Amino acid sequence: MQVTIRSLLTACLVSSALLGMGNEASAAAKSVQEQKAEEACVVDPRGEILSLSCASCHGTDGKSVGIIPSFYGKSPEYLEAALKDFRSGTRYSTVMIRHAKGYSDEEIRLIAQYFGTVWQNNK
Ligand code: HEC
Repeated sequence: MQVTIRSLLTACLVSSALLGMGNEASAAAKSVQEQKAEEACVVDPRGEILSLSCASCHGTDGKSVGIIPSFYGKSPEYLEAALKDFRSGTRYSTVMIRHAKGYSDEEIRLIAQYFGTVWQNNK
């Protein structure tokens, strides 16, 4: 976990620096981008902890072994929507409907954020 957090912070500092270089383009766009960079820089360990309940089937980074689908490389938005669709029953699954029902909106957001970004440091 220490290593993951350190590499996330490094990626976050690099992206902030790159964003800082293009600042003259547009003041409005800049503030949105800066806001996103700041959000990405907040490393919340709860997502990684919650993701452990998924690891037995999907692996620690979303790369499954066997027949269970992998979601390695998917975005946080994709994963959040998939989990909410499973929870509501909009998307059918025998296993995931039951599993997703156990999580609040906040927990789903944290899990999606974790799995949706962990692969970026693993490419
Ligand atoms: C008991 C095994 C098991 C566990 C634990 C489990 N899953 Fe799944 N998951 C599955 C199976 C099986 C599918 C395939 C769903 C289907 O089509 O029926 C799936 C599908 C998915 C998908 C859809 C993949 C895609 O590409 O659209 C996502 C996203 C997902 N799981 C996320 C999670 C997350 C996040 C957790 C932990 C909160 C989790 N799963 C825990 C078995 C599991």
